[in-house]
Amino acid sequence: MSTSRPAILLMQPFMKPIEAGLDEAYEVHRVFSAQGRDELSAEIAASVRGVVTGGALGLPRPLMDKLPKLEIIGVNGIGTDAIDLKEARQRGIHVTTTPNVLTDDVADMAMGLILATSRQLCTGDRFVRSGRWLNGGFSISRKVTGKRLGIVGLGRVGRAIAKRAEGFSMRIAYTDIRAFDDVAYQFVPTLEGLAQDSDILVVAASGGAGSQGLVSRRIMNALGPDGILINVGRGSIVDEPALVAALSEGSLGGAGLDVFTDEPNVPKAMWEMDKVVLQPHHASATVETRLTMGELILANLAAHFGGKPLLTAVT
Ligand code: 8YV
Repeated sequence: MSTSRPAILLMQPFMKPIEAGLDEAYEVHRVFSAQGRDELSAEIAASVRGVVTGGALGLPRPLMDKLPKLEIIGVNGIGTDAIDLKEARQRGIHVTTTPNVLTDDVADMAMGLILATSRQLCTGDRFVRSGRWLNGGFSISRKVTGKRLGIVGLGRVGRAIAKRAEGFSMRIAYTDIRAFDDVAYQFVPTLEGLAQDSDILVVAASGGAGSQGLVSRRIMNALGPDGILINVGRGSIVDEPALVAALSEGSLGGAGLDVFTDEPNVPKAMWEMDKVVLQPHHASATVETRLTMGELILANLAAHFGGKPLLTAVT
């Protein structure tokens, strides 16, 4: 009977087969807009036992507070920075993520952004489409092979980026809260030191209070006028106004960004900048990976409501 199915709050659209899987097993309440979430009726809120959401969106605390029967939050991603984990723990609410399955895609996106930014792939494309090639040649770009790559955060994604960069004969160094003895890459204890010694700096760390504004103007200055900053982690890690200033003043060479401070509000100043490549937070957004991520959410929910151990719980 449909009335006995657990009620789920779906915070953003998912691929059709995933939403169909949710509809089959749960009473799904779709709240895809901030207004929809604000206007959620008290009756529905009181019935909700599960929330399915994205990593960047998470579960705003005021909404969490309105869900007294909440038991599980399924995150379509690896970031938990938009969820009050302490509160979840206190209330005994389980949180699951989708680790591993998106690693390759995010690393692929990082490499894509490195290539697109350094080799001016997007500006080159715009140059051809606008007919400007008919009037003369395009500016020359920057080499990728053999460059010094600095990775901020050597987690699963950081390591996958490093592996790909090896194929480009890059000299790979990283910074993290500690050195790892299972990799041969050079550990640099400070972010500033790493930036100073890198041609390309890739942010692959997770968001949250601990990494807020880590890539400051000082770090951008250390990277320098020919340096390139790539961000596939979280927008909050980079001081965005400082980035706009550094790029417009020419003290930073370029940036390739998949994530922003206030998505989808990308600073207007960046829209006009040729030295910046912008993506709509799409690193894990491939058909294959989004299906696998969605299936993992379904499996976690099924395990939870079936009284079985969760597959990928956040500890
Ligand atoms: C997703 C993410 O794009 O992993 C994360 O934390 O932000 C991304 O993989 C996002 O969760 C969309 O659902």
